[in-house]
Order: sequence, then C-alpha cells, then structure tokens
Amino acid sequence: MRLEPNPFSGKKRAPYPQHRRSPTPPTLAPKVPPDPSFPYFIHPHTDVITSDPHNNVTDHIFEKIGYNLHKRPDHPLGIIKSVIESYFDEKYGQDTFTSYDSLYPVVSTFANFDSVLVPPDHVSRSQNDTYYVDEDTVLRCHTSAHQLEMLKDGARKFLVTGDVYRRDSIDATHFPVFHQMEGFRVFEQAEWEEAGKDSVDLAAAELKDCLEGLAKHLFGDVEMRWVDAYFPFTEPSFELEIFFKGEWLEVLGCGVTEMKILEEAGLQDKRAWAFGLGLERLAMVLFDIPDIRLFWSDDKRFSKQFKEGMFKAGGVDMQKFKPYSKFPPCLKDVSFWLPKEGDSFTENNLCEVVRDVAGSLVEEVKLIDEFENKKKGLTSNCYRIVYRSMERSLTDDEINSLQERVRDDMVSKLGVELR
Ligand code: DAH
Repeated sequence: MRLEPNPFSGKKRAPYPQHRRSPTPPTLAPKVPPDPSFPYFIHPHTDVITSDPHNNVTDHIFEKIGYNLHKRPDHPLGIIKSVIESYFDEKYGQDTFTSYDSLYPVVSTFANFDSVLVPPDHVSRSQNDTYYVDEDTVLRCHTSAHQLEMLKDGARKFLVTGDVYRRDSIDATHFPVFHQMEGFRVFEQAEWEEAGKDSVDLAAAELKDCLEGLAKHLFGDVEMRWVDAYFPFTEPSFELEIFFKGEWLEVLGCGVTEMKILEEAGLQDKRAWAFGLGLERLAMVLFDIPDIRLFWSDDKRFSKQFKEGMFKAGGVDMQKFKPYSKFPPCLKDVSFWLPKEGDSFTENNLCEVVRDVAGSLVEEVKLIDEFENKKKGLTSNCYRIVYRSMERSLTDDEINSLQERVRDDMVSKLGVELR
C-alpha cells in the first residue's frame, strides 16, 4: 500500500498538461477559508479560486481548506498527531520541539518548491500535479514548504502539521487532500565537536535513532529497514519502512538537510535533519481504517469510534476501527478516444473532473482497457468509475445523472471523443 508515493524519487509521473478552469469561475462567497489563523507568506484573504489562467482549484478542493482534521482531538488524525508530539516530548523533554499546526496552506511557489531546492523543471511543479491559485501561488503539496520560513523565524527544533494538496489518481488510499507532519532539528557546532563526530554522521545517526524510536512508539516491536532515497532538500536521504501484516510499508522520508537551505536562513555554521510523514497512512494502518474518504465523513458510526487518548503505545490492545456495513458500489465504464493533439487528457485531469462532479462519492477511477487504432491514428481508453457513498445507498437516478455530467465534462474540458 502506498499512500504518498515519494514525488521526488524520479519515478515517471504523467506529463505536463494545461488544465485550465473555465474563464468564469463558480462563485463561492466568501472565497476565504474559515480558519486562516497563521498568515505566513500568503495573506489568508487571498482568493483561492480565481479567474487566473493558471488556477486549477476546484470547489471540491476549496471546500476542504480550513477543515483542520489534524486539529480535532477526537479525530484519528488528531490522535496520531498528538501521539507523535508526545513521543518528541518524552524523548527530548517537554516542549523542546515546538509544534505548529495552523500554518496557512496557501503558499508561494517559492516556499513550496524553490525554498526546498525543487529543480525548475521538476514534474511536481506541473499543473497536472499541483493545485495553482495563480502562477506564483499554490496549495502546498508538502509541509516541507515551511522549513525555510520557520528557520528564518528563529525556530530550531520544530514539528509542522498541516493539510497538503496534490492532484492525483483516485482509489482507497488516495485523496487530493491529506495531512503531513514535518520534523526539523538544527545542531550546533559544539554538539558534533563534543561527540567527536563528523556533523553529517552525527545528524544522520541521531535522525535514525529518533525515527526508529518513533516507529516503535507507534507500531510496537516491528521489523524495520532503511532504504536510500532522493529528496532535493536532503543529502543523504532515506525512507523508513516497517514490516506490517506481511508487507514492507514506507512510513516516512527524511535526511540531512542540504546546506544551501541552512545558508539561506543564515545558519551556515549549523547542521540539521528533517523528516516528513503522512498522517492518513499511519492512521489507516494503526486503526485499520479501510478507505481514506472515511477521515472526511461526519457519520457518527465513524466518529464515535475515536477518542482522544485511546491510542496505546505500540498499538497494544488498542480498539481498532470496526467497519460498519458497506453500501453497494455502482460501476460505470466510459470509453473514449484520446484527443489527437495536446495534453488536455491525463489521468489526474480525469480524476479532477470526476471529483468535481461526484466529490467524495467516487471511490476509484481506473484504466481497464487501452488500445491503439493505427489506421485512425487514435488511442482508445476505457476507464471504470466506482461510485459508492460511505454513508448511504445511492440511487440509480443519482448515479446516472452524475455519470452524464462526467461524460459531458470529459468532452468539454478534456477534449476526448466518447465512443
Ligand atoms: N516532503 C516530502 C514529501 O512530501 C517528505 C519529506 C522527505 C520531508 C524528506 C522531509 C524530508 O523533510 O527530509 O514526500
């Protein structure tokens, strides 16, 4: 199960399309998210849906800003967040690491990419992968976007938790909004001198010790392994995997911070480590939550199963999530010819169209057939869309009308020809 594939690993993602909103955006009043309590970089009164040609934020995404699931003490994400924070308190001393969980998710492209050394041509900068408010403003796609601003602000040991946004495919473990926690620790020269160690070696060793301890705190006595990884902001970089229910599961990315970032913050004589982890993935595994959409559900059968303080270290004897009966899925296939030219059709763009029509009623969008008609010079795709509500039965009429709207939008927004 991969919840947040490492976007920096160099594995090929879809090419760059130009997904443009229609010039008249839907009106949503007010266009200001409800809880903009921390105005870093971008002023919280900035419009999120605009007529800017780069804007690809949909209503469905906009509505999620300000939900702050990670700040709700009885929500599984809030529970995992505070369990991790208390691990840091126990290991390093109360409040040695300062926690921030209200940094505003609308950030500059500088913060999201440049400040953490993401190369100018990196695929994660494309409108296919990231939600743009305008050319210079995005919904953060990772909490690493805050590293530099925090350092400049004087923070030296900190945790940043927040909602992050990525255009992506649709299935049980992917939702375009999820939550990450970033950890950052700066070392003073005296620390590596006292230890008689090279600064990078000290930071890497301390990082691994810290995160192995965290994994034990969360999962109990599990088998784990370190895998070499690549992130633009760290060198060396690693991923931690744990062996859970018969498979190796990637739980976090981390590494020794690139000096360029520290230099930018005026900390050229220091060293640092950083890590980033996805809260949904941890919560799904630790509580046995089968579908990522459940985190957004206000169904009491879900919410009443979680209480602040219920997490037992190592998951020992902890109450797991008891799934209630699932409502039946409804499957709809759609076959079409891809546009001959241009890059308006990508799987991410299709998912965005489906999400915009069906919201959380869509469970999965998957390619089930593809062939090329050499004579026509055209490629045909068939996608299966699985609709299912987490809360109720859907009627045929309701699904049919959603599917009709999806088909219409596929033609008008993605330029496909239905078959
Ligand atoms: N930002 C990375 C991601 O979203 C996660 C991450 C990896 C954060 C390594 C870090 C780090 O701070 O050092 O996939």
